[in-house]
This record gives sequence, structure tokens and C-alpha cells, in this order.
Amino acid sequence: MTELLETNAVGTEMLRVDGAAKVTGTAPYAYEADLADAVYCTVVQAGIARGRVMRMHTTEAEAMPGVLRVLTLFDAERIADTSDTELAIMQDDRVPFRGRIIGLVIAESSETARHAADRVVIEYEQWDHDVVLGEDRQDLYASSDFAADSEEGDVRAALPGAAVRIERRYATAMTYSSPLEPHASTALWDKGTLTLWDSTQGVHPARATIASLFGLPQERVRVVCPYVGGGFGSKGTVHAHTVVASLAARLVPGRPVRLALTRQQMFIHTGYRTPTIQRIRLGADDEGRLSAIAVDVVEQTSRIKEFAEQSAMPARVMYAAPNRHTTHRLAALDVPVPSWVRAPGECPGMFGPEVAMDELASELNIDPIELRVRNEPARDPDTGKPFSTRNLVACLRTGAKRFGWAGRDPRPRTRRDGDWLLGTGVAASMYPVNRQEATARIRYTVGRYTVEIGAAELGTGTWTTLRQIAADALAMPTESVELRIGDTAYPTASVAGGSSGMTTWGTAVVDAARAMRKKFGAAPPDGAEAHGKTSSNPAAEQYAMYAFGAQFAEVRVHADTREIQVSRLHGTFAAGRIINPVTARSQLLGGMTMGLSMALHENGICDPCTGHVVNDDLAEYHVPTNADIAEHSADWIDEHDPYVNPIGSKGIGEIGIVGTAAAVVNAIYHATGIRVRDLPVTLDKLF
Ligand code: MOS
Repeated sequence: MTELLETNAVGTEMLRVDGAAKVTGTAPYAYEADLADAVYCTVVQAGIARGRVMRMHTTEAEAMPGVLRVLTLFDAERIADTSDTELAIMQDDRVPFRGRIIGLVIAESSETARHAADRVVIEYEQWDHDVVLGEDRQDLYASSDFAADSEEGDVRAALPGAAVRIERRYATAMTYSSPLEPHASTALWDKGTLTLWDSTQGVHPARATIASLFGLPQERVRVVCPYVGGGFGSKGTVHAHTVVASLAARLVPGRPVRLALTRQQMFIHTGYRTPTIQRIRLGADDEGRLSAIAVDVVEQTSRIKEFAEQSAMPARVMYAAPNRHTTHRLAALDVPVPSWVRAPGECPGMFGPEVAMDELASELNIDPIELRVRNEPARDPDTGKPFSTRNLVACLRTGAKRFGWAGRDPRPRTRRDGDWLLGTGVAASMYPVNRQEATARIRYTVGRYTVEIGAAELGTGTWTTLRQIAADALAMPTESVELRIGDTAYPTASVAGGSSGMTTWGTAVVDAARAMRKKFGAAPPDGAEAHGKTSSNPAAEQYAMYAFGAQFAEVRVHADTREIQVSRLHGTFAAGRIINPVTARSQLLGGMTMGLSMALHENGICDPCTGHVVNDDLAEYHVPTNADIAEHSADWIDEHDPYVNPIGSKGIGEIGIVGTAAAVVNAIYHATGIRVRDLPVTLDKLF
């Protein structure tokens, strides 16, 4: 058990301290770093999906007024570490996917740079490419990146004897993080030091990557990032554009280079969620008790770098069943590199199983909440460990009350409002409690505590919430705390990823504050300083730690046009202690909005002829607007978990997206009697 923080500021609705700066446009983002004499950089991209670049003709581009430099893969600097093939751009003549960066242009304006990039003439040797995922491919393989398979009991033997069986194929689409702020870097190479103002979820991890890529000692790279306009995982690892900005800066020492990807370029260079094909098999007795759960997932990765989305993982811990089986198989294609998108693994991995549970409930004529309650495990089915806290049932029951679930007729197509068919659906949500390593420093001078840590602010509220934690840990009012984050000049911190940010950074800050109080008491001398750190949680050896939630959707489907409206969406979560209800609600609603979007809108469509995602802008790749969101609410139950960390928080950045799409699909079935198993649910699938 950990000594839980005494709270005063934590748990209160403190308004965002950076709110005014953001709404008045004075919060500086990466592209806007306040620097004189900046130049602009853009990328030159390959126009084929696979092959070799034979020649690049740059004379015309170089002759354009305002163009400072055109660099191609034939004359680019050799970088020190080419092991990350996504980042080792312009190091050889190969084109592994359409849009690969093969050159760059530096100019006095971004318009000139883009114009000049279009004037570069490229000759290729084009080879056949392969960009189509399918579960029948002969070359599917098991990744070595994670435990690809799990086997408990004997699913094959158990299924034939089950009173009810569900065997279905589900599919999720290729989706993109699509943050409002594009991926951007401003890079300055000056006196042998590289400074990057980079839109990143982690300044220290970004620095480590860039330093090793260029063979520079870490102290000669500085990464600064006080604000991020959304990341969702796409800014959690370094992508090629930051390498481009760094390469460009080294060509024009002393002049800052600004580079922002266009929306179309973001579809290629910043990662995406792999499409998944999920074969789900459930076996149950006639009361709905599961005897077998099997999840076999097929996903794509790129041929040059493997990213393995761990979509079968949730099925290992959600429900009790003596016989369980999961596999992941990958197809390596000539496509851009997939990466983290909000709840990688859990988000797509809770879609198939949670729709399958709804199908099982329909088959048995059992309420879908009751079905889940009947299959609640006493311990983590995967590891056998007890849960530190597990409140899925409480979320389902509490959420049901708040949503108004009672009295629901389980039969589909029974509710109608004029021309509209109405339906409601539910799905469970989960996300693991993750913790990484971080360090923090606190200094005291004349009545003020300065708290320093290289933490990130993605729009999640870190400027506010970390200050609340620091204030309580110091037993001081928040006004006495000054927070400094988002710069490698501060103590080393982890990436904002896996919903681990506040848990990790907060624990390091609490540790530093406790050291401060232990050493100096309530009245430290001027100049007093204390350090804190966190690493893995020893209690994780004994306990399985997860946040849970229940997602509820009400949909209206037009009887003639099949237009789909999500009229209500509600989530109730159990995610440990909530640090700030305002910022927490925003994160949960944001996740649910992305889940709704996954259910109805988002679908990257890859043209097999060109290997290009053709709807690569926000006009044709649809994300929800205000008109798509009606009544939308999120709340939580009080949960006290003394094992997770001294703050008692479990992480809330990702759980909001998990399960939402299944709840929407289940509601659409309830409204229409039509079960759609491949996302997104566009209206043509309801005819
Ligand atoms: Mo999140 S996809 O772990 O940044």
C-alpha cells in the first residue's frame, strides 16, 4: 500500500491556468516559437508505393527566388543511427510506401518551399506493391514484440459443447489521430547544439531519439514544448518530419527552420491505427456463463518497421471463462508505419468482443448488463492476481441508472419516434494502469515553490493538475506553486502515453515534495531544494491494475434514409481518484467523441492501385462536428485504490474511447435489428 496524498486542491474544479493564454492565442506552439530570421522547410515525397528513386532533378526548384536549399536522398547527410527505418529518411534510394520523404526544400517562406518541392522532378524504378490486408493472406506472422498468443484450457474442445455459441468476424477501419495542431517542429542548429521546439508528447524521449539518430550527446540537444494542440499518441514517438527539420537546421546554422506538416502529409508520416480483422468465438451455457472466449486478430504493419497493435489483450482480462485463446497476426505491407492512436490495442480490441457479448445477450434473451455481471471474474483471468480495485459492475449499474436503462425492451426495432427508429446499447470499457519513470525537482525561494519536471501538456490539463498535486503534496495553496514543464532543461520525465502521465509525473512530484517537507519542514530556507523520482510500481507484482467503465448510447436511425444520429452518449468510469473534475470530464468526453467517430465516421480508404489513402483531409476523412454530438455526458464513481500510486489516480486519457464504438453499434442493432460488424457504420450498411 502507498501512503495516499491528503487532498485539498486535488479533486477541486480548478480552472485551467493556461486557459486564457490559449483562447487569446498567446500560448506558443512549436511552429510559433518566438525566433527571428526563421526559414521554412517542406518535404519532397515519393509518388510511388514501392521502388527506387533513380534521379531527382532539382535545378528548376533551386533557381526559384527565395529558395535556399534543395536536398535529396542523393546528397543528404548520413545519420549516425539508421536502425529506426521510419526515421532513417533520405539514407538510401528505396521507396517503401507512397509519400516516403526523399528530399526537402528550405526557403524564405513556406509557400515558396512548397511551390519549389512541386518543381522537383523525380525518376523512379517502380516495383509491384502490396497494400491490401486480408485474413486469408499466406504471409501472416506472429510478432515477437509481445506475447502474440495466449492459451488457457481448451477452447476448441469447449465450444462444441456450449449451449450457445457466437462465431463472428468483426473489422475496424484505418483511423488517424487528426489533432487540431499539425505536427510541427522549429529547429535551430547553433554552436553545435540542436534546439527543437517540437510538438511532442514527451520532450525527453524525443531528445533521446534525436540525439542518438545524429550521434550527439544528449546535452547537445534541447527539446522545448510547453503546449501541444492534441496528440492522441501521434506525437508520442518521433516521426520523420522532426528528423527533416533537424537535417534542415544543420544546413542553415544560426537560422531557425520551421516545418509544419500539411493535413495530407499527416496521414502518411505521423502513424495511424492499423485496421483490424477480428474473429471472435464465445461459448456459454444457457444462463450466459462463458465457457470459452477466443479472439484472433489480424492487423497490418509496414514492411520497413513493425508496429504491433495489441488488440487481443483486453479479452484476456475482461471476463471469466475456463477456456480462453487469443492470437495476433500481422501482415507486413507497403504502407506507412502504423503507430499509437488513443488506446492502441484496447480501443479496437474492445470492439469485436463487446459487440459479440451483445450478440450473445440477444441470443440468450438476457439483459446485456446482466450478462456482463454474470461473467465478472474474481481475479484477473490472465495472471490470476487479484485486482487492486475492479469496479466494472459498479460502473454498469451506476451508469445504467444515470442513463435510464431500466425497463428497456431487449427486442430490436421496438421503439419509434415518428420516422425515427430508436435504440440503446451498452458496452464495457477498460484500460490498464501504467506507470513509467520520471524525476522532479522542487526549489523554494521567498514564499514560492518552483516545481520542475519535463512533463507534457497535450491539452489534457497538466499545467493545472500537476500544480494541484504539487500544492497538496507540499501542503501549500496552489498560488504558492510555480510549475515548469515541457522542456528538457527540467528533470527527466516520461512520454505522455498509455494514460500514464499524471500517474508518473504526479508520483515523482509527490516524492520530491515529501523529501522537501522531510528535510526542511513547513518553513524551508531560501534556496532549499529537493528531488523526487518514480519508477515501476512494486505493488504491480501482486495486483492487476485497471480502470473500468461502462458506455451507453442512444441512437436514432431514420426509417427511410437510414441517417444515424447518436442522440445520447453516457459513460460512467472507475478510474481511481479524479484530480480535477473539469479537465477529467473533458478528457473522458473527448475520448467518447473519438469513439463515436470511430463508430460512424472515420475510415482511411487506401486505393490499392496507388497505395495512397485517398481521403486524406478533413473534408473527406470525417470526424464529428458539434452537430454530430447531442447529449453527451461522462461521470465516475468514487474509487479509492491505495495500490496504484500516492495520488490514487488510474489514468483517464484513453479509457473514454474504449468501448464507445461497440455501445453505438449495439444501439444501432437495437434500433434497426441490423447488426453491422465492420466499422464505420455508414448508412449504406443499414439497407
Ligand atoms: Mo496514447 S495512444 O498512449 O499517447
